Amino acid sequence: MRIGIVGSGLMGGKLGTIFAGAGHEVIFSYARGEQKLKRLAREAKGNARAGTPREAVQDADAVLLAVHWSRVDDVLNQAGDLSGKLIVTCSLPMNADNTALVIGHTNSGAEALAEKVPKARVVCAFNTVPSEVLFGVYEARRKEPRPNLVYCGDDGPSKEVAADLIRDVGADSDEAGR
Ligand SMILES: NC(=O)c1ccc[n+]([C@@H]2O[C@H](COP(=O)([O-])OP(=O)(O)OC[C@H]3O[C@@H](n4cnc5c(N)ncnc54)[C@H](OP(=O)(O)O)[C@@H]3O)[C@@H](O)[C@H]2O)c1
Repeated sequence: MRIGIVGSGLMGGKLGTIFAGAGHEVIFSYARGEQKLKRLAREAKGNARAGTPREAVQDADAVLLAVHWSRVDDVLNQAGDLSGKLIVTCSLPMNADNTALVIGHTNSGAEALAEKVPKARVVCAFNTVPSEVLFGVYEARRKEPRPNLVYCGDDGPSKEVAADLIRDVGADSDEAGR
């Protein structure tokens, strides 16, 4: 597939690199400097290049939306027409300092995004909280080394399922509480 990466930070950079490595054609877009996009494209093994959000979206089979919630309007504006496109979004509706969800605790933001781009198909994925949010938890507990995957929430049975899945893929994990 041709995959347009819109937002090439931690999520977009990593996922775009994985997609390119898996044989997809990837266009990295939307960072504060073009050099970074070019570096990502160079370092990704496979068919990857840098472009504008409009170029990333044009002719894409799928678009990965990976910007902070506060940048969504700007990036959609730059991307242009998204009619009929499949948008995979990992942009969680969080406030500017990533300390709170701005729409609601059970809302992924997909519906709000779909209202902005009514003719696109929106899929929500990678919908975890940015890892930085949890750094304080580990500083407070003085845990060393940090696990590479943490999970949290209010629902006990769901957390048991999450723990099983994380163990199944061979990752270290820890429960971070609520
Ligand atoms: N990180 C996680 O663990 C994680 C997990 C799940 C979901 N999410 C969600 O995924 C989304 C992206 O997170 P992230 O961690 O990938 O964020 P990030 O690293 O900050 O990436 C955001 C991208 O947007 C670009 N950007 C920001 N402001 C810009 C501007 N004014 N002009 C042009 N480009 C601009 C950044 O440019 P630069 O590259 O130049 O900084 C970066 O490429 C967020 O909504 C977050 O909540 C993150």
